[in-house]
Amino acid sequence: MKIETLQNAGAVARRGAALFAEQARVRPDLVVALPTGRTPVEMYAILAASRKAGAFDLSRATAFNLDEVLLPRAMPQTFFQFMTRHAWAPLGIAPERRFIPDGETKDPEGECREYEAALARAGGLDLAILGIGADGHIAYNLPGQAGPRTHVVKLDPATIKTLGGDLQGPLRAITMGVDTIRSAKTILLLATGASKAEALRRMRDETVGEAWPCTFFRDHPDLTVIADAAAASQL
Ligand code: PGA
Repeated sequence: MKIETLQNAGAVARRGAALFAEQARVRPDLVVALPTGRTPVEMYAILAASRKAGAFDLSRATAFNLDEVLLPRAMPQTFFQFMTRHAWAPLGIAPERRFIPDGETKDPEGECREYEAALARAGGLDLAILGIGADGHIAYNLPGQAGPRTHVVKLDPATIKTLGGDLQGPLRAITMGVDTIRSAKTILLLATGASKAEALRRMRDETVGEAWPCTFFRDHPDLTVIADAAAASQL
């Protein structure tokens, strides 16, 4: 894994946006896996502004979310709402090429199979943009709940808390699996803040295994970690 250490979160957002835009220019029909969370918000804002300035065109690109919580879509904690606010329209992704697991499904297992089928129909992932949890989770491949393909997980109380509001468990989610994400030709992982420092160190040094799901990614042939100084402080 290649590690780029930059001064602060703003620089990480700018670098992530620049690498994303470069891929979009090279490949107008880009198939990309997109993250939610605190980390990518600024990157999406930069991309929205540079798209307005005509820097790239994602109208033929296809976007797949990494994960979604099993909650009614209207709830502010859903990734559907996050993407609506920060990413899909701001980046110019066409409505018919916005994919996210259906958080209202009555058949989560069937929804997982359908999501994998949609990915295959799109031709597979060119690019995956990732965050990382303080516990080393990637998408919602949580410690002890990683799986190869898109699957259902039970969120732990700490993860539920990161969703904000006074959301009470139990709560499940659908996540792309480790092999699904690893199938992307290029992976960019953004990490900012001291809370991510241990996870990045473990990603590089820990024995590969479910205790730190991030370890499953480190031998990907085209993985770049973009970290700010605080997140890289244990490297
Ligand atoms: P965060 O989430 O960007 O809100 O820290 C990262 C993640 O859980 O992947």
